[in-house]
Amino acid sequence: MKRGAFLLPRGIYLDGNSLGPLSYAAQAATERRLKQWQHLAVNGWDEWFGLSERLSPALARLVGANPAEVIATGSITANLHALLATFYRPEGARRNLLATSLDFPSDLYALSAWAQRLGGTLKLIPSRDGHTLHDDDVRAALGPDIALAVLPTVLYRSGQLLDVRTISAQAHETGALIGWDAAHSVGALPHAFHDDEVDFAVWCSYKYLNAGPGAPGGLFVHERHFDLTPGLPGWWGHEKSTQFEMAGGFRKAAGAGAYQVGTPSIVALAGLEGALGIFEEVAIGAVRARSLELTAHLIALADAQLPECTLRTPREPERRGGHVVLEHPDAKLLSLALRRRGIIPDYRAPDLLRLAPVALYNTEAELGEAVRVLRELLDSGSYRQEQAHKSEVT
Ligand SMILES: Cc1ncc(COP(=O)(O)O)c(C=O)c1O
Repeated sequence: MKRGAFLLPRGIYLDGNSLGPLSYAAQAATERRLKQWQHLAVNGWDEWFGLSERLSPALARLVGANPAEVIATGSITANLHALLATFYRPEGARRNLLATSLDFPSDLYALSAWAQRLGGTLKLIPSRDGHTLHDDDVRAALGPDIALAVLPTVLYRSGQLLDVRTISAQAHETGALIGWDAAHSVGALPHAFHDDEVDFAVWCSYKYLNAGPGAPGGLFVHERHFDLTPGLPGWWGHEKSTQFEMAGGFRKAAGAGAYQVGTPSIVALAGLEGALGIFEEVAIGAVRARSLELTAHLIALADAQLPECTLRTPREPERRGGHVVLEHPDAKLLSLALRRRGIIPDYRAPDLLRLAPVALYNTEAELGEAVRVLRELLDSGSYRQEQAHKSEVT
């Protein structure tokens, strides 16, 4: 869709759900901010102040929010801490946090620390097959003891997409609040966080948004919660026009901007600034439609040519995020051998090959070639030699 907009690494890049590639726009925006730093030094703040807020309209379009409900800031984990410090308020018998047994570990570290601190328990929705969640199990776990659920929109290993609208409504019916970790969906598919009544959400921008390694992520806070005071306040979340008066205590900014803590990296924000421009040219609905075409194509290729690999991603389009996961006992060696052949997959221990055909820049031809090489490696068994080279790469 926008392949020409990217400076893709040599070979076939199928790891955009780990780190999106550099775009010309992100490069140009970063160079511009570096030049400003060079020529303006501290006077640059005249222009840089409020940059995060100026990115909100574009981010809001991607996640289905009002601009005041989103802000580019922090990492997923830091933002999650800031939001837990605000939204996790155990009361009476409603004391517990809910997450899933398949969550990204960093979320679980944060959630279990908050449960311990405030005297609750972190409950985990079980998985029947070790890869996906069953709707009934999600619903059953939302008991009257749950104060706050934090769930992934797309499971980072299997790529299962959860139904944000339905589960958010179920959480609210039981009296719980709900936050979402949208690391693997923002930039890959549309969201409607405002209309779905999501309480809060967090995401990163280094995956499908292609903003660069460690670029600031984002958060959403529904406007019905704008009366809350951030539990982790800092001067960057202060009301903007009086931030530099530095008197009279913390007066929070009007919207999600209140959840910023300290000074943002302007150079890192520039990557996001440039990368978001690409999403202004292609509607996120069209990105999703193309992503589904590509993942369906990859699944069909795997079905036809890789019978020894087990598909761990749901086949139904409405239950699938932007990546496809194949299970094979030698996934690690296969991923190393693919890299040696110029094909960049992602490997998740102990036996998963994660492949992300990204709508903006990957093609059917690349998927055909990747599967052909994988077939060749399996037939020849040559990937087993990677054992000898393993220490070079891990
Ligand atoms: C689903 C998910 N949640 C959380 C994280 C951690 O993100 P961060 O390093 O921005 O805190 C990641 C990182 O890849 C992730 O995939």
